[in-house]
Amino acid sequence: MKAAQKVFVALDNMERDEVLAFLPKLSTKVGGIKIGLEMYLRFGRDFLLEAKRFFDGEIFLDLKLHDIPNTVAKAIHGLSGLPISFLNIHASGGSAMMQAALEAQQEALPRTTLLAVTVLTSLDDSETQSIYHTGRSDSFKRLLLEIEKVSGLGVVCSAAELELIPNRAIVTMVPGIRFEHEISSGKIQDQKSVFTPEQALEKGASFLVMGRSITRAPDLERALSLLA
Ligand code: C5P
Repeated sequence: MKAAQKVFVALDNMERDEVLAFLPKLSTKVGGIKIGLEMYLRFGRDFLLEAKRFFDGEIFLDLKLHDIPNTVAKAIHGLSGLPISFLNIHASGGSAMMQAALEAQQEALPRTTLLAVTVLTSLDDSETQSIYHTGRSDSFKRLLLEIEKVSGLGVVCSAAELELIPNRAIVTMVPGIRFEHEISSGKIQDQKSVFTPEQALEKGASFLVMGRSITRAPDLERALSLLA
């Protein structure tokens, strides 16, 4: 299955040297890497430029920005000049914030796609009830309506939520992916609902986020070959 170029490998819980040694093994084998808030705060913006020297592919900077419109816009301007293909914000910041973020992205990072995070997968129905006064699916649909008020945003969501997106033209970045053999042997760690790369792509995912299935694979070559 040719999923490899749609996969962004989540580089979580790694030291700087470990990441730089790991990147050449992924270079050209997958579409991109995902650098999260923790790594960005620890290693700084220059780390993204350095990572690009070791990895020929795209970067998704997973900062999940969430603040008042002006602050989010200014934060995005602060990323100007970085080699970022995807950046994300929280949809729950509201449509005015998302619009301000989109305008800032168009000015400061014109080649970047801005994605909106909907309901965090760490929240279950009872938690979305207490925050949004409705279950997960309805909370997702409400946030999607806010996202659709701002044309040009993509969405970060689980594969289970893809069918709740009527507009198939929206770019989707889908985490919660595990290989078939990991699901059948129960190796899904803290993810509650997981899908294989094939299942997520069949459901319409544009891109996939895969972390530990790749970064902690006992045999990296074999893991990457499953995507080739
Ligand atoms: O190791 P694993 O494949 O579970 O890594 C998933 C990555 O995707 C992590 O970086 C995690 O923060 C991120 N993520 C997620 N669920 C979301 C959004 C992002 O697991 N809804």
